[in-house]
Amino acid sequence: MKKCKFGVFGFPIEHSLSPVMHTAAFNALGMTGCEYKAYTVRPEELKEEIIKAQTEGFCGLNLTIPLKEKIMETDLIEPDDFSKKAGAVNTLHFKDGKIYGYNTDGEGAFKTLEYAGCQTNGKKILIIGAGGAARSISLFFAEQGNSLKIINRTAEKAQRLADEIVEKTGNKNVSGGGLSGWNDFDRADIIIQTTALGMGELKEVSVFDELPATKPRTELISECLAGKTVFDIVYNPEETAFLREAREGGAKTINGVMMLVFQGALSFEIWTGKKPDVGVMKKAVLEALK
Ligand code: ATR
Repeated sequence: MKKCKFGVFGFPIEHSLSPVMHTAAFNALGMTGCEYKAYTVRPEELKEEIIKAQTEGFCGLNLTIPLKEKIMETDLIEPDDFSKKAGAVNTLHFKDGKIYGYNTDGEGAFKTLEYAGCQTNGKKILIIGAGGAARSISLFFAEQGNSLKIINRTAEKAQRLADEIVEKTGNKNVSGGGLSGWNDFDRADIIIQTTALGMGELKEVSVFDELPATKPRTELISECLAGKTVFDIVYNPEETAFLREAREGGAKTINGVMMLVFQGALSFEIWTGKKPDVGVMKKAVLEALK
C-alpha cells in the first residue's frame, strides 16, 4: 500500500478526531503516502459520495453520525454478519471493485475494557442507553455469552433492543428496562454508559440524577459500585459527572478515549492488514483534545 486515500464521512464532522488519530498511525508505520481526511457528507448525499470515493480510488472510509445506519438503506455495500445484525456500519473497505462493510464499535468497547485490565469473560454487564452505540456494544457482548441488562430513559426502547438481541444471538440472558433503580447497578460487574449524558449541553448531567434518591447519593454509589469497572464511552477532555461520581464512590473508571482509538485501530487493520500503534493513536487524540 504505497499511496492510498482514507477518510471519515459524517454530518457534522468538523470536530472529528479521526484524521489526527489515523494520520499519526500511518506516520508511525512509515506509510507516508496514505492520507486520511474528514468530509462533510449529508445523509442524502451518502450514496453519490461513496460512489465518487470508489471512483477516486479510496481504500477505506469510516462512517459516523448519522450515516452508520443510513448506509444500510443503500445497495452499495456487502456488510459482514455483525454489522448486518447491528444494522449499522462504521467501516467501509474498497477492495477488488467491491465495498465491504464492518462495524468495529462493539469490539472497540471490548478491547478498551481489556486494555484497562478488565476481564469481561462471564461477567454481568449493565448497558445504559438504547441508541446506536448501545446496540453494537450489547450485540458484541451478547455474542460473547455475557449476561446483559440494558437500561434506558425510555424503558420500552431498551426492552425492544434486548428482545431483538435475544432473537439475533440466541443469548437469553439479555433483558431491558428503565432507569428505575440502584439494583441494576448492584447486580452488575461492569457498567457501560452509552447515552448522550456528559456531552455538550448535558455535560454536567449524570445518569445518577435519573435514579431515585432513597438515601444520600454518595452512599448509594459506593454501596452499588465500589470496586466495579465503570466505562463511559463519552470522550470529553474532562471527566464526565457520571465517571467522577463513580470514581469517588470507589469504582475503577474508564473514559471513551480508548474506545475511539480501538474502533479506529480495528478499521485500520481491516484496511491495511497491519496493527497500528494504539499508544501513538491515543497520544494524538489526547493532544487534539487539549
Ligand atoms: P448513539 O447513536 O450515540 O447511541 P442515539 O441513538 O441518539 O445515540 O441514542 C441516544 C441515547 O441517549 C438514548 O438511549 C437516549 O435515551 P432515549 O432513548 O430515552 O431517548 C439517551 N439520552 C439522550 N438524552 C438523554 C437524557 N437527557 N437523559 C437520559 N438519556 C438520554
